[in-house]
Amino acid sequence: MTREDEVSGKKRILLVIGGGIAAFKALEVARLLRKKSYGVTPVMTEAAQAFVTKLSVETLCGEAVYSDLLSADQESRISHIALARSADIILVCPATANLLARMAHGLADDLATTVLLATTAPIYVAPAMNVRMWENPATQANRVLLEQRGVHFIGPVEGEMACGEFGMGRLASPEMITDILINSFARSHLLQGRHFLVTAGPTCEPIDPVRYISNHSSGLQGFAIAEALAQAGAAVTLISGPVSLPTPANVRRINVVTARDMLEATLSCLPVDGMIAVAAVSDWRTETEGQEKLKKGRHDLSILKMVENPDILAMVCHHDKRPALVVGFAAETEKLLEHAREKRLKKGCDWLLANDVKAGVFGKDHNQVSFLDDHGVENWPSESKKDIACRLVQKISTYFHQI
Ligand code: C5P
Repeated sequence: MTREDEVSGKKRILLVIGGGIAAFKALEVARLLRKKSYGVTPVMTEAAQAFVTKLSVETLCGEAVYSDLLSADQESRISHIALARSADIILVCPATANLLARMAHGLADDLATTVLLATTAPIYVAPAMNVRMWENPATQANRVLLEQRGVHFIGPVEGEMACGEFGMGRLASPEMITDILINSFARSHLLQGRHFLVTAGPTCEPIDPVRYISNHSSGLQGFAIAEALAQAGAAVTLISGPVSLPTPANVRRINVVTARDMLEATLSCLPVDGMIAVAAVSDWRTETEGQEKLKKGRHDLSILKMVENPDILAMVCHHDKRPALVVGFAAETEKLLEHAREKRLKKGCDWLLANDVKAGVFGKDHNQVSFLDDHGVENWPSESKKDIACRLVQKISTYFHQI
């Protein structure tokens, strides 16, 4: 944000134009954003300049184009670091296969990729390429990597391409791209000033220095919820069991191993406005932990006496610093709604999201949940874990605007 933007409250989008036949559509995106009073700073790759002229881009953005990393003239106007910091959001449009690959691998070999590496602003990419290039495992692996790091994809969509082929790879429409950006600006204030605690992943309960009791939880749903809360402007503390997921942007993460660690970390964070308990906490641990590896045949297995772990969710629900909203999850393999209703009342949480784990949701991108509260049950559609997180965060913000 520039000094003038700060005074006027104007939001600034850094529009990175990649070199593809769809580059001309970035001009329409810039026009639509400016019509809604957003500032648009254009950055062009060298290849983009083969498809649209700097003059067209400058005219529609109303600002000079930045394109050269090693230009003393452009650096003296604004350094590449200051340029990266000036944006409230970065939009890459069109994002070519090459640009996505360079982003995924952290290259900084031109101004566009350097700015993308230096920014802390949310990044949106609108890919456009031939269907085979989009479907290529290399591009898909880059997409997954970027999504895991919090980059948002808008499209591509299905349709006819400039090369004459048909399939997934067309740039999303300029209207769709601008609507998504504008909604994300609107969402980014929904939970400002609120603090949420999210537990995620499994816990691991050591039996001896080699073995442990745990479960299949990947942490994906909890991490998606922490990310969506942060995108809605909330302060988020994510208490995570052992998983190999990157920390979402603007989220404070506390790593734990056992249920007892998770309880201690949770209690140390109270008070908060809301808690979303997504963690698959191990219900049991062994009463004692072997200091040495238990040897087969040499130990009577009855020494592995199991004891119950503390129920973190129930303890928070009955705590004198109970958050205003407590949400639990229930992973069930049978009698889903019956068990979920019982669980919500027994634990004392306000809302409960129940999912049938027999449907094989562990480690998968999609989930299907039923939402339970005092009013009854809503069956949410099967959708990506990120979409479920957005749906939940929308509900949470409605709740906090009503109290
Ligand atoms: O009892 P069950 O494990 O099915 O309960 C699931 C819900 O309770 C989840 O929200 C989970 O995070 C939470 N839980 C907890 N501490 C436990 C067990 C479950 O916070 N020891």
